[in-house]
This record gives sequence, structure tokens and C-alpha cells, in this order.
Amino acid sequence: MHTILITGGAGFIGSHLTRLFVTKYPGYKIVNLDALTYAGNLENLKDIENNANYSFVKGDITDTALLKELFDMHQFTAVLHCAAESHVDRSITDPLAFVTTNVVGTATLLLAAKQHWHGNYEGKIFYHISTDEVYGSLGAEGFFTEETAYDPRSPYSASKASSDHLVRAFYHTYHMPVKISNCSNNYGPYHFPEKLIPLCIHNIINNKPLPIYGKGENIRDWLYVEDHVGAIDVIFHKGRIGETYNIGGHNEWTNIALVKELCRQMDTKLGRPAGDSEKLITYVKDRAGHDLRYAIDASKLKDELGWLPSLQFEEGISKTIDWYLTNSDWLNAVTSGNYQHYYEGQYVKR
Ligand code: NAD
Ligand code: DAU
Repeated sequence: MHTILITGGAGFIGSHLTRLFVTKYPGYKIVNLDALTYAGNLENLKDIENNANYSFVKGDITDTALLKELFDMHQFTAVLHCAAESHVDRSITDPLAFVTTNVVGTATLLLAAKQHWHGNYEGKIFYHISTDEVYGSLGAEGFFTEETAYDPRSPYSASKASSDHLVRAFYHTYHMPVKISNCSNNYGPYHFPEKLIPLCIHNIINNKPLPIYGKGENIRDWLYVEDHVGAIDVIFHKGRIGETYNIGGHNEWTNIALVKELCRQMDTKLGRPAGDSEKLITYVKDRAGHDLRYAIDASKLKDELGWLPSLQFEEGISKTIDWYLTNSDWLNAVTSGNYQHYYEGQYVKR
């Protein structure tokens, strides 16, 4: 039995994680703490908001007094730390926001758990959700393993690397029972349309240009979000304390090939002539410091805990497109207001 503080549960991955734990473990009590930034959205959790084992608190992970109050009130036995500033492009324009939430926020949360648990770590878990971007950028060959040296290259990945180091420091210095996972690119429902896949789905629907950075040759390793949270579930319950596990999809795509696959599937689903949406592809000025390739070696997770991704990419993408086509209200709501302002400032024609 656990009473779990999930941070960032109203975001993309956090909402899938919260849903999984609330529905799969009705005996657990789940408290979702989220600041509801532009990326947080309670609509993502509509289907479980009235479950008896779930509650929501609007608040910031940098708020020491609030964290103390929540730990005292709920006596958490575990933390699933998902809250973060997560978009690389935004980290290039506003790096300090990333240091505040990802570094200071993680340190504040670690301290709150340390002070509350007070050395009584029996049955406790502090689980930190992190990214493969901490390992830097690969060339054409090779994979990131858990032993790959950290080499973050964007303000986002540097802030996540820093948070990983802080979590490990609390394990080594104070013996806090921590677990870390570093995952590759996720996709699926509730993904905010600032990220490549939902942005292109949104723009294809609206016949707007599909902005491709540079030559579109950068490579990412894509994993369906429900597979990611399934892996977190396995690591949370069966992974070893103090360990790091890489999570990945064995599913590498260049950005241009991926966007063409999206166009192909969407032409069929929207009843457009084959090749129609591809005409929207527009090459734009490259992202500063753009990492070339990410690819995860997830063999530790497979060998130790038996985890493998469940979904083939073409099927996952098809499910994802269907979700966005069915949930146009969600898409329209999150792309109104401030989103337009962000979008207009983001892309420069090559
Ligand atoms: P997201 O941007 O969709 O959601 C982040 C959530 O955190 C939002 O609900 C936001 O309101 C909340 N939040 C932000 N700052 C906060 C603060 N100071 N206090 C409390 N809540 C705050 O992010 P995501 O894509 O779901 O990523 C979740 C986690 O997974 C992050 O730690 C990210 O680094 C990691 N990750 C993401 C991916 C991916 O492909 N999206 C891959 C690997 C790891
Ligand atoms: O690898 C895990 C990471 O994946 C997570 O830690 C991050 O939180 C998540 O945002 C994601 O980072 P990326 O930068 O890889 O994701 P994004 O969707 O922003 O970009 C994917 C690729 O597509 C990348 O090479 C940049 C490119 N791109 C992106 C956008 C938004 C474009 O060409 N055009 C775009 O408009």
C-alpha cells in the first residue's frame, strides 16, 4: 500500500501516469500536485477526477511550506516526480525558468521528503522521471546506456542532468531510497502541440505549414506514452533502489521520415489525395544546438525486469492521430490564447 505524491500529474506524461496508478491500484492514495503552467491541463484527467483514491492540489514544487503541509497531511510513502519545464525550444529563450523548476524544484522536493521521512526510509521510494537528453547527442552509431557519461547540451537537458545528479546525491549522502528512469521521446494523446508530433497533426488538420528544423535529418527514438508509464510502474514496484533504468522504443526515425509518415496516414484518414499534406512541409531555421540523434539501449530494463514496449510505431501513430481527430475540442482549447503568441515567435523561414 502506498500514499503517493505525483508531481506534474496534469501534464502529458504525468496525466497518463496518474491515470494508470489511480485505476490499477485502487488501494493506493494518489495526490497530484501541479502548478498548472501552460502545459498543465485538468481536462487531461477528467475521467478520473472523481475517483475516491485521487485528489488534486494546485501548487508549485518550489514551495517549501506547501510541500511540508502536504507531507504532514498525507504521510506520503512515495513520490513520483514528473513536474518539469519540458520543451527544449522554450529552454533556449528562457533558461532560468528551467533552472527554477527542474533544479530548484527537484532539490526542494528532495529536501521535503528527507525532512519528513527523517531517516525512516523503510518502504519509501523517491522516483525521479528523467530524459535521455542528459546523455547528449549520438553520431550515426551507438546507443545510450545507463553508463553513458552525461553531456547535456541544451538548457533543458542541463537542468534535467542537474536534477538527476541531485537525486543521486541524496541517495549517496543521506541514503534516500531513490530510483531514476531516463526515457526517449514520448508520443500519444494529451501531448501539447508545441512538440513535433502533435504540432504537425494540428497543422495538417488546419492546412498550415509543417516547420522542419534544418534538413529534417535529426533522429529521435519514439515510444508510445502508455508504454513509458507502464515501464515506470514496473520500475517503481520491482526496480532496485539507487538504480537508473533507461526506457526506449527501439524505434528511430529521422524527423522528415516521421512527418511524411504522419502526412501519409492523415491523408487517408482525412480523405485527402495521397501526397496532399506533404506539400505543407516547410524547412525552417534550425534549433540552436540541435542534438543530432538519440537512441536508447533498454536492455537493462528488459533483462532485469522483463519490460518491452507493447506497440508498433505505425499502430501507435494511428491511435494518436485518431485521438486528436476525435478530441478536437481539447486541441482547439489548448491552441487558443497564449499558444498563438508562442507559435508566431517560434519559427523563422530559412
Ligand atoms: P509537460 O510539459 O507536458 O508537463 C509538465 C507538467 O509539470 C505540467 O502539468 C506543468 O503544469 C507541471 N509543472 C511545471 N512546472 C511546475 C512546478 N514548478 N510545480 C509544479 N508543477 C509544475 O511535460 P511531459 O512531456 O509530460 O514531461 C514530464 C516529465 O517527463 C518531465 O520531467 C520530462 O523531463 C520527462 N520526459 C519527457 C519526455 C517526453 O518525450 N515528453 C521524455 C522523457 C522524459
Ligand atoms: O528525448 C526525450 C525528450 O524528447 C524529452 O526529454 C523532452 O521533454 C521532449 O520535449 C522531447 O524533446 P525533443 O526536443 O526531442 O522533442 P520535440 O518534439 O521538440 O522535437 C523532436 C524533433 O523534431 C527534434 O529533432 C526537433 C524537431 N522539431 C521540433 C519541432 C517542435 C522540428 O523539426 N520542428 C518543430 O517544430
